[in-house]
Amino acid sequence: MKRVVVVNGPNLNLLGKREPHIYGTRSLQDLEATIASKAKSLGLEVSFYQSNHEGDIIDYLQEHGPGSAGIVINPAALSHYSLALYDCLQALALPVVEVHLSNIHAREEFRSKSVTARAARGVITGLGFAGYEMALEFLAAQE
Ligand code: DQA
Repeated sequence: MKRVVVVNGPNLNLLGKREPHIYGTRSLQDLEATIASKAKSLGLEVSFYQSNHEGDIIDYLQEHGPGSAGIVINPAALSHYSLALYDCLQALALPVVEVHLSNIHAREEFRSKSVTARAARGVITGLGFAGYEMALEFLAAQE
């Protein structure tokens, strides 16, 4: 069975409580349940990780990325500045889909630049939970 790694970055543990007008009222647990159900329907195994710490995310990806079919990652604010995370994603040489719940191009100027996106096959931004489901569909369809 293909295994996909799903990583959420800083402050996404606060989903549902954090700026609900932007990120919605559903929690991280709700998000992971939505993803798990989509993964099941696609015949994918999925592992979840969320951390507020850049180094912990990198450690997790280095440990669990190799051998997986790909990575779905919402690096959150790390998208906008973490060259260490960018290097990590590049080093893994796996298909990566970067997801943002909100449309980063329709918000503050600083959000429209993602340094990690350069390491991704594609970016889905602004489609909420559906973006993660679409990312799984893409990875499931890869050889
Ligand atoms: C986010 C957008 C980022 O700019 C922000 O820092 C986040 C969440 C999103 O999912 O829309 O924490 O990645």
